[in-house]
Amino acid sequence: MTAQLSKKSEAWSARFSEPVSDLVKRYTASISFDYRLARFDIAGSLAHAEMLHAQHIISSEDFAEINRGMAQISAEIDAGKFEWLLDLEDVHLNIEKRLTELVGDAGKRLHTGRSRNDQVATDIRLYLRDAIDNIGLLLRDLRLALLNLAERHSGTIMPGFTHMQVAQPITFGHHILAYVEMFGRDGERMLDCRRRVNRLPLGAAALAGTTFPIDRERVARTLGFDDVCHNSLDAVSDRDFAIEFCAAAALVMTHVSRMSEELVIWMSPRVGFIDIADRFCTGSSIMPQKKNPDVPELARGKTGRVNGHLVALLTLMKGQPLAYNKDNQEDKEPLFDTVDTVVDTLRIFADMAGGISVKDDAMRDAALQGFATATDLADYLVKKGLPFRDAHEAVARAVRRCVDRGCDLTDLTLAEMQEFSRLIGDDVYDVLTLEGSVAARNHIGGTAPEQVRAAIERVRALLASH
Ligand code: ARG
Repeated sequence: MTAQLSKKSEAWSARFSEPVSDLVKRYTASISFDYRLARFDIAGSLAHAEMLHAQHIISSEDFAEINRGMAQISAEIDAGKFEWLLDLEDVHLNIEKRLTELVGDAGKRLHTGRSRNDQVATDIRLYLRDAIDNIGLLLRDLRLALLNLAERHSGTIMPGFTHMQVAQPITFGHHILAYVEMFGRDGERMLDCRRRVNRLPLGAAALAGTTFPIDRERVARTLGFDDVCHNSLDAVSDRDFAIEFCAAAALVMTHVSRMSEELVIWMSPRVGFIDIADRFCTGSSIMPQKKNPDVPELARGKTGRVNGHLVALLTLMKGQPLAYNKDNQEDKEPLFDTVDTVVDTLRIFADMAGGISVKDDAMRDAALQGFATATDLADYLVKKGLPFRDAHEAVARAVRRCVDRGCDLTDLTLAEMQEFSRLIGDDVYDVLTLEGSVAARNHIGGTAPEQVRAAIERVRALLASH
């Protein structure tokens, strides 16, 4: 839906002697983006009207008329027939004006005991709560897709890296489960942030509260808020909940970005660990042979814009005196774009996880290079009684010999091995295998296939119980 902006110049109210210029109108209006709050604005207005009625501030007739008018407005918006007017500045005034057109004085009474300041703060919180719930589901879908991938590869061996150098053999399933953990914490952060989002500003009015006998708890209940905001100045002016959300979103994107970086590296022909299904890749306009991992690259790039939105909101807030200032209108575009970016990214990644094919042989070959089991040899010597530091040194010398000769540790004969330590016996070769190495790391959080399968079951059970 795009907002149609039509023109009709009028001064703001009797207080003003001239209308604003077209440029100022365009500069100060928010309707081109805040029309997206319409659904939440109407829900907030209906809850407010219901309370005004229950408190005998408006009549039953007025309440019925407001309901009737809002139902029609909702239908007009859903049908794309609602005419958004730039002259009416924002979503709140557009809807209120249309309501008044439809139901007369009842529409004019809706704004009793309310201000756009508490109204917009309420709308954003409703919008964000909805977005957080959606993102929670999408994080869950992504985790399920990654669990399936990890399950298919609980025993697939690859090199694990530190400093981008081959470090120790791990299983691909274990590697993928690292992201399952990250996205799990992202879900926790979203839920935690939701608790602070889900408090009702309405009733704060412009900044000081209202002289009408309102019932804020009633409105909070109607709208599903856990509590009301307990200070009217704070209620209309702070956007910390949106900043907090953007910080959580930036971490989601950071995790996506790290994973993207790995996917890009793994898909490089030089590495060749995986292939990503064609539907997530694009070609080159000049080089016919190219297949580029565009989706992960773009996700990595989009992390920058989400980080930028976080900084934008922090900067927006930092210089504002209490209470509401028009600066706050600038909270919406960064927030909307953060939600849109995270939602699209998570949806694509959940789908793409099913389109990753693993080249087991290439992973295994890579794990065989770089003395990935050197630590296992050191551990072997420790188990035979050598202090770890001495074992580390003995294996370092053995590796040095292999580097000079261009061979692997397993290529050394037992006699050659024993030059580095007399403690080495012919059981050493089992220790140097990739399978033996991963299977030996058999504790919670370790890379052994048995542990990977247990970890998958654990997360599956957690997801099923929530
Ligand atoms: N469009 C405004 C916003 O997004 C609504 C609140 C305007 N309040 C005011 N006093 N100008 O913040």
